[in-house]
Amino acid sequence: MKNIYSNIYKPNLFNLNKAKKNVENNNVIGIPTETVYGLAGNAYSNESVKKIFKLKKRPSINPLIVHFKDFNDLKNDVILNDSFKKLYKKFCPGPITFILTKNKRSKISKIVTAGKKTVAIRIPEHKTTRKLLNILKFPLAAPSANISSQLSPTSASDVVEEFGNSLKFILDGGKCKIGLESTIIDLTTTPTILRTGSISLKKIEHVLKKKVKERKKIFKIKAPGQLKLHYSPGIPVEMNMKYPKKNQAFICFGKKSKNGKNYFNLSKKGDLKEAANNLYKTMRKIKNKKFKSIAVVKIPNTEIGCAINDRLKKASFK
Ligand code: TXA
Ligand code: MG
Repeated sequence: MKNIYSNIYKPNLFNLNKAKKNVENNNVIGIPTETVYGLAGNAYSNESVKKIFKLKKRPSINPLIVHFKDFNDLKNDVILNDSFKKLYKKFCPGPITFILTKNKRSKISKIVTAGKKTVAIRIPEHKTTRKLLNILKFPLAAPSANISSQLSPTSASDVVEEFGNSLKFILDGGKCKIGLESTIIDLTTTPTILRTGSISLKKIEHVLKKKVKERKKIFKIKAPGQLKLHYSPGIPVEMNMKYPKKNQAFICFGKKSKNGKNYFNLSKKGDLKEAANNLYKTMRKIKNKKFKSIAVVKIPNTEIGCAINDRLKKASFK
């Protein structure tokens, strides 16, 4: 059964097999995860991975995350260490990505890792994508399913909004539970958070029983300016504002906030998890309503609020 969009497919057995055939034939498909939707292809195939970079307009120096079913699946591709094992036990499957050293016998395409000796791996929790990984003989390389530097998609129709008919097959997994990308932690050195997410530095320190560093930049960009603007709704975003200017959309938070035609509350009850879940959706709505710019109220910088502020900071880069 198809959805109202001809390229969105319900996640039944028949369509899971169709998804399987697609990736086996080196086609690229949209997949749901608990964080955001991904643009997936066979991580062992150069042909497949090239298509991801092309469709997403992703600079070739920016490596992709490889999605595996479980622990047993990744041994040939990465070198496992103690920190990884502890974090895996606590948080996987779930919204966390690990940077590990690539195993010499790994079959992961060099294009996926942009020629680096390290590789980003993730074991997603979403049941549809887990079912798909279960019937595949290879892991899936998948960046977020958006055009490079734009907003990440949190529903199948958002993916259609990004790629239109150039993406032929999207598995519908409903709305993403978290709505912000996974936490990325580099475990090839002193554990270092490269991207904040719903699994906080504190939670990770608690499991590892040691200090974890946080790096603001994901990695050194060779082409200046290329990746500074990110998670962008395509219109200017201003953070820490008290009021909107005339005709500006205003993203607010909490019960004290006023209501208004141009007011968009991320969480009326002041819940940061709910706010995170609504962030991309709300920015997408504002963009589609043709507002020319967005002001955002100050968001508390605790727990997942740190990840919200990280994304807003990149979206507001000038
Ligand atoms: O939640 C998520 O992580 C989603 C879902 C689809 O899994 N994926 C996602 O992928 O956000 P993407 O490509 O949009 O972001 C991955 C980030 C990029 O900023 C990339 O630079 C970084 O991971 N990355 C990938 N491989 C890396 C590596 N070997 N070393 C450092 N950073 C790496
Ligand atoms: Mg992305």
